[in-house]
Amino acid sequence: MSSHGVPMPMISHPAGPLTGRAEVPGDKSISHRSLIFGAMAVGETRITGLLEGEDVLDTAKAMRALGAEVVQHAPGEWSVHGVGVGGFAEPEDVIDCGNSGTGVRLIMGAVATHDFAVTFTGDASLRSRPMGRVSDPLALFGARAVGRAGGRLPMTLVGASEPVPVRYVTPVPSAQVKSAVLLAGLNAPGQTVVIEKEATRDHTERMLAGFGAEITVRETEEGREITLTGQPELKPQEIAVPRDPSSAAFPVCAALITPGSDVLVPGIGLNPTRAGLFTTLREMGADLSYENEREEGGEPVADLRAKFSPDMKGIEVPAERAASMIDEYPILSVVACFATGKTHCPGVKELRVKESDRIDAMAVGLRANGAVVDETEDSFTVHGMGPQGLPGGGEAQARLDHRIAMAFLIAGMGAKAPVRVDDAGPVATSFPIFEGLMGDLGAKLTRVNA
Ligand code: S3P
Repeated sequence: MSSHGVPMPMISHPAGPLTGRAEVPGDKSISHRSLIFGAMAVGETRITGLLEGEDVLDTAKAMRALGAEVVQHAPGEWSVHGVGVGGFAEPEDVIDCGNSGTGVRLIMGAVATHDFAVTFTGDASLRSRPMGRVSDPLALFGARAVGRAGGRLPMTLVGASEPVPVRYVTPVPSAQVKSAVLLAGLNAPGQTVVIEKEATRDHTERMLAGFGAEITVRETEEGREITLTGQPELKPQEIAVPRDPSSAAFPVCAALITPGSDVLVPGIGLNPTRAGLFTTLREMGADLSYENEREEGGEPVADLRAKFSPDMKGIEVPAERAASMIDEYPILSVVACFATGKTHCPGVKELRVKESDRIDAMAVGLRANGAVVDETEDSFTVHGMGPQGLPGGGEAQARLDHRIAMAFLIAGMGAKAPVRVDDAGPVATSFPIFEGLMGDLGAKLTRVNA
């Protein structure tokens, strides 16, 4: 469903070769953080390459509601006049984060150590997702939260008037939880410490250091320990947002499964906390190469070149790799249908609480298109059908989840028969140019009446 609430069914037809350059939009995680950290700095942060997807635009609105000046100058070019750490003002209305778990969880952290209350809500998907994983640690700072049963939105967070710093071991591998605690720690005196047993994406740590916060990371027996000194003055930054590896995954995987394809996806960040899918695809035997490897803004970057790969093999994806490819399991499960043998993905319980239950959404949709998929509470296995691939011909439900919608639209490109997605509207949350970009490569996507 689009933000206007009208479902947008789409059919993806088997495609000829996909060829050309796919310039994917800016990184969603870094775009949210650019706006939020910019709003907490003193002075003007300038951002280029910002993802203008619905999720990030909702975060921009929220920053305005909290008192920051957020201005778009040209496509992708934005500035944020920050109010400084501790400088947010009480918003006049409910903050609606739309579909975005990252938006709501990070902003809850950012306001939790301010002396006012904020009520948060979101769309039907976000209202079904657990927020206790964030409100529980925020309570340790002195904040109080009242939400619906099961810690669901709408939720009112009453910020701590006299916050205390916190030491917190994250019980789930989640960069959103880690970041919420660190953001709350920004306006608490003393040192806030977060320990994560498994490393998750580290954009918050890297970017806060860039904004001038005192933040250190060390490996301990308990895990990765991050220590942040509270109440810094954050210095405004010039941020060039790199292109999103999670969006790059879609044209890359489309090329691997569509006969004759050769696609170049330039300028993709290969931060090891994000690049797990590409390692996995290469282990499967995908013809995926890194060209022009370089460093940009302190991050490893490369141009990805993906070619049709009829000889891929199913593999065991190590559970330890899950955090570095957590958003990519839906599209991996599509590619796995085109490999020979089984692909087993253990340690992925977190997929059950994403924008949808992604294990179930993929299993049901792939089965409707002729695949065999087994699942347990925290794993799934795709039975590959070799280069013959997915029969297709079925419908998949997007369940208000952009990555499920895109994964099935890519499936249709390599399948024997078209794949219909009941609602491609959610794609606009993270990849608003998906339809045009894939069309330019040679994909055949058609909109149909609901
Ligand atoms: C994100 C963290 C991940 C990821 C999401 C973006 C972030 O969520 O799935 O798309 O920007 O911090 P979790 O923290 O729940 O794993």
